[in-house]
Amino acid sequence: MVIKVNNELEEPTVVHWHGIRLPASMDGTGEVQKPIQPRESFIYRFELPDAGTFWYHSHHNETEQMERGMYGALIVEDDSKIVTDAESVLMIDDMKLAKNYSFKRGNFIEQWKVRHDGREGQTLLVNGQENYLIEMHEGQSERWRIINASSARYVRFYLGGKQFTLIGTDGGLLEAPKNMTEMLLTPGERIDIIVGPFKSGEIFYIESLPYNRMTFLKAKHNAFATVRVKEAKPSIAYIPAQLTEIKTLADRDAAVTRKIKFSVGASWKHGIDFLVNGEMHAHDAPIYINDLQVWEVANTSLMDHPFHLHGFFFQVIEENGKVPEYKAWKDTYNLKPRSKVKIAWIPDNRPGRWMYHCHILEHHEAGMMAHFEVIDKGEISFSPQVRSSCAHS
Ligand code: C2O
Ligand code: CU
Repeated sequence: MVIKVNNELEEPTVVHWHGIRLPASMDGTGEVQKPIQPRESFIYRFELPDAGTFWYHSHHNETEQMERGMYGALIVEDDSKIVTDAESVLMIDDMKLAKNYSFKRGNFIEQWKVRHDGREGQTLLVNGQENYLIEMHEGQSERWRIINASSARYVRFYLGGKQFTLIGTDGGLLEAPKNMTEMLLTPGERIDIIVGPFKSGEIFYIESLPYNRMTFLKAKHNAFATVRVKEAKPSIAYIPAQLTEIKTLADRDAAVTRKIKFSVGASWKHGIDFLVNGEMHAHDAPIYINDLQVWEVANTSLMDHPFHLHGFFFQVIEENGKVPEYKAWKDTYNLKPRSKVKIAWIPDNRPGRWMYHCHILEHHEAGMMAHFEVIDKGEISFSPQVRSSCAHS
């Protein structure tokens, strides 16, 4: 892909390609490029090595630029045997708007709450629209690619109790389809599902069940969109029993190569601090190309944080002492309160500066992130450090 980004804002921006395994220099963060200034442009150029449901978004002043909608879906088609009658991309978001529909930061107390909870609002959007309508035909099955693009909202995706089939996660297809009736999608996460067939006349909603992530805001049951089933049409849908193969990178007792801690602490300066390894905007040690990484990521706080690793997919190999039910490629994974997740991944040959962070945008902005470098063993690294202000990286 070659994408020219023209910045027509009154402020700088950069664009991050969430989930794409691209070269470090194209990652679109303040670590690897200077922010694109107003009336300037930047050309991103990279190959697309994986099929999947990806997205791109601003990675500068995110708490405003992303809240205002600076994101989009990036779908890379697979050549698998899956056939469906229709396909849609559904980007779920919410906005906290003032009475005149504008974006406002709010007063001091308001801002403190937003810093703690992340920004959630009552304007519920699918693909940028309120009261979104999906029409299907009786007898047909569709593939929906769902992206949680909200700043902080956890979506406990639910179709009024109807069964759907999970076929893919952040990094592409699962090995086998999995039937379910609900699925948690934290900010940044994606799923591919198959829905249907349904009966003509049925009406149901894309809902989010309450999920309590220990916020001041009360967890609520919400409806994002209406699904209406119309007259019958023939179906050509076919979902194979085996979708792909996922090679296991490490088993649950693999030796841990790095321990990471996400924590929240009281601070007299900010009221509350969001930390990685006890620091804001932490600097983590470098790693070497092709060395298997087994990271134990701990969340010692009493709230949830979606952990996002830039540029690479990982496998969760253990969560609080349990092996996950199925294998999946992930780049974003929820850290429940007081939990430990063990992930495995391999830094392939893409040296440079990378990062991981909480995908609740306000926590990320507050410093819940770390940078690290992937180094080629054969060379001494002199990779350029383009560092503007850390707070915007
Ligand atoms: Cu989608 Cu650095 O994030
Ligand atoms: Cu967080």
